[in-house]
Amino acid sequence: MSIALRSFAKINLGLKIGARRADGFHELRTIYHTIAPHDIVRVEVEVGEGIEIRCGDPRVPCDATNTCWRIAERVLKVAERRNRVVIEIEKRLPVQGGMGAASSNAVVTMLGLERALGVSLTQQDKLHIAAEVGSDLPLFLIGGTVLGVDRGQDVYALRDLPETALVVVTPPVGVSTPQAFAQWDALMASEDALTVNAHAGTIIERDQADSAWLSERLLSWAVPAEGPASGVPAAGGDRAETPLLDLVRTGIENDFERVVFPEYPELREVKSVLQREGARYASLSGSGSTVYGLFASAEGAEAAAARMRAAGHAAVATRTLTRAEYWKSVASGQ
Ligand code: C5P
Repeated sequence: MSIALRSFAKINLGLKIGARRADGFHELRTIYHTIAPHDIVRVEVEVGEGIEIRCGDPRVPCDATNTCWRIAERVLKVAERRNRVVIEIEKRLPVQGGMGAASSNAVVTMLGLERALGVSLTQQDKLHIAAEVGSDLPLFLIGGTVLGVDRGQDVYALRDLPETALVVVTPPVGVSTPQAFAQWDALMASEDALTVNAHAGTIIERDQADSAWLSERLLSWAVPAEGPASGVPAAGGDRAETPLLDLVRTGIENDFERVVFPEYPELREVKSVLQREGARYASLSGSGSTVYGLFASAEGAEAAAARMRAAGHAAVATRTLTRAEYWKSVASGQ
C-alpha cells in the first residue's frame, strides 16, 4: 500500500546569520512559517531490501544523496526493520528555491514510513533524525510559526500568526546555500562590508519601514505556544523568548539578501516589484531564489500575482498555513 503525503514549503520571516562555528555551521536565528504550496510524496514498503527514489524532475538526485533516501535509511535503522522502500516525489516546488522543499520531502518520508512500517517513533527520535539530515528539516515536525535557533535545527513552536496572504515568486535560478554562507563569511571578513550597506542605501530605507511593520506584528503575536498543538509537544518557554524578542527588536531582515542580491540583481528587482505591488513586507526566503511578499488581503495578493505574471514573473498567490492546518493537510495526500 502506498501512503501519499503533502510536503509543504516554508518561508523565513527574517534570518540572522551569526558567527561561523568550529563545526563549520553558522549560528542562525529565524522564524520559519509553513505555506500552502507543496509537493506530493508517496511512500511504499515492500518485502526485500534497498531504497529506491522515483522522481520525474531531472534536477532531483535519486541516489543516496537525496534527503529522502538519507532519512529512510535512518528510520529503518532506528525502527530495526529490513524492508525495501520506494519513495516517489511529485515535484511542484522549485529545487534550490529557499522554500525547504527537499527538507520537507524528507520529513514527510519519515512520517509516511512510520505509517507504512506500522512503527511509532518518539517526537524526540524524529527531531534527532531530522536534525542529522539537515538544519531546516525539524521545523516541518512542528509546522505553523516556528522559531529556529542554533544552526536552525533547534525549533520552538510559537503561537501561530494569523493566516496571511502572500505572493511567492520563484525566479528561474537555483542558489546554493553552502555557497551563500561562504559568501557571507567573505563579506564579514571584508573591510568593505560598510560600503556594501551604503551602496544599497535606498533599498535599506524601505526595508526598515517593512521590518517595523512585521516586527510589531510578531511581537504582539508570536509568543511561545502555551500547550501541545496537533500532536506536537509544547516547546519553547523561556528558552524561546529571548532570541525571538532579540530578533524582532533588532528588525526583521534576511541577512542572505546582502550576498545573494549582488550576485542575482534580478532577485532584488523582484523584491522591489512586490513592494511596488503593495506587499506589506517582502523578502528573500532562506538563501533564495524564492522571493515572497506578505499582503493585507487575499484579493490584493491575487491581483498583484496576476499583474506580475503578465509582466513575465513566476508569481503565485497563496497563504501561510497555521500549525493545525498544516497537520490536518499533511496526511491528506493530494
Ligand atoms: O544543515 P544543512 O545540510 O542544510 O546545511 C548545508 C550546508 O549549509 C552546511 O554544510 C553548511 O555549509 C551550511 N550551513 C551553515 N550554517 C547553518 C546551516 C547550514 O553554514 N546554520
